[in-house]
Parts: sequence; C-alpha cells; structure tokens
Amino acid sequence: MKKIVLNTYEELCLAAADVFSQQIKEKPDSVLGLATGGTPIGLYDELVRRHEAGELDFSKVRSFNLDEYYPIQRTHPQSYEYFMRKHLFDRVNIAKYSVLNGETDNPAVECKRYDEEIAAEGGIDLQLLGIGHNGHIAFIEPGSSYPMDTLLIDLAESSINANSRFFGADEVQPVRALSMGVGQIFRCKKIIMLIVGADKKDIAAKLFDGKIHADVPASLLLLHPDFTVFMDKAAAGQ
Ligand code: GLP
Repeated sequence: MKKIVLNTYEELCLAAADVFSQQIKEKPDSVLGLATGGTPIGLYDELVRRHEAGELDFSKVRSFNLDEYYPIQRTHPQSYEYFMRKHLFDRVNIAKYSVLNGETDNPAVECKRYDEEIAAEGGIDLQLLGIGHNGHIAFIEPGSSYPMDTLLIDLAESSINANSRFFGADEVQPVRALSMGVGQIFRCKKIIMLIVGADKKDIAAKLFDGKIHADVPASLLLLHPDFTVFMDKAAAGQ
C-alpha cells in the first residue's frame, strides 16, 4: 500500500487525474471502475477539463460503477447513474458505461449479470474508491463476513445518515443498495482511494495502523498488491 498526502483537495484531484490520464494513455481501451460521493467530484471535473482541452480521449474507455441505490429510478437525481452522467459521462466521449440497475425486479439476477459483464470486458484495470466514515467501500458495510460477489445490501444506519444530505425532504431515501463485493474489487488490477477532510481523519488513521480490522472493510485493501491512497492534509490529521 502506498500513501500520498497532498496539501489541498485541488492538488489531490490533479494527482488522481494524473493516474487516470496515464492509465488511459497507456491503454486507450481501459476498463475503469468508478465511484460516487462528494469526494470524486473535483477529480471528474479535472478529467472533463483535460478532455475538453484535447488531452484525454475516452472514445475506447469502458466503465463500471461500484454501486447503486435499490430501488431507485435511473432518472432520479439521487441515483448514482444520474450522478455519473451529470459529473462525467455526459461531458466526455466515453465509449460505454455500466451502472447497476436500481430498477430491476430481480436484484440477484442483475448482480450476477453485472459480474458476468465485468468479466466479459476483461476485468477492471483501474478502480477508484472513496471511504465511508464507518470504513465502508462501495456499499460493503462493516460486518462479521464479507461478500465476494455483487449483491443487494442493507445500508448501515451511519451510511444512511451520511448520505441523507443529498436527499430533499420530499425524497424517499433508499435503505438498500446493489454493490460490488470484495472479490470484484480485489480482481481490479490497480486501486486508488481518495480520502478528504478532517471528518475522515479517524477512519484514515485506522486504515494506516498496520492492522486488518474485521469491522473496517477498507482495511482488507491492505492485502491488495497495487493499492494507493491519496489524502489531503486534513484527512491525514496534519
Ligand atoms: C457512498 C458511496 C461510496 C463512497 C462513500 C463516501 O456511500 N457508496 O462509494 O466512497 O459514500 O462518500 P463521500 O465522498 O461523499 O464521503
């Protein structure tokens, strides 16, 4: 595991964008694993800027997102598909993107289909991750065991509370989600995680205390051979 501390959020977004740029330049038909949340918005803006400046071509790039609320309409402003279109997909020339279908009547079939689609595309080359305050990655919540494959998950109370800021008073917030499992994330060739802000200081410290914590799903990533964490000074407790 590598840890890189940047002075500001802006610098962190530039550093993470450099990883994506390098990946796409080295392998134009890369398969990207993408994440939602407040943290990666600046990174997506920077990727769009590079694309508009003619520096980055997504015409052969394919992507898979980590997770999606369930149930949710794909046109709902809080769906992760809507989020991704707004911040990235509708602003670059990406060849193909896949987001789990929060409208499905049969989550088990949809999860299996998603895993098969990722395998058929040759697996994910570069995976972007954030981290929840409780140590969750994607929507893999702390527990006594962890799923290998994509599945339907009951969200933890703390995750529901953390994400309630995005939902209006008149919007129903889903309490379940479809999420990649640990096996799917581990099969990614390269993983980068972004941790930003003083409110993530405690969970970041736990990630770097040299132990795998049973109740911190993100700490499993310490076992991945190519895992880099980008943090700002606030998250690093500096
Ligand atoms: C969400 C997503 C995660 C994300 C996390 C942190 O619940 N499922 O993929 O990493 O929350 O989000 P934020 O960047 O807004 O703190």
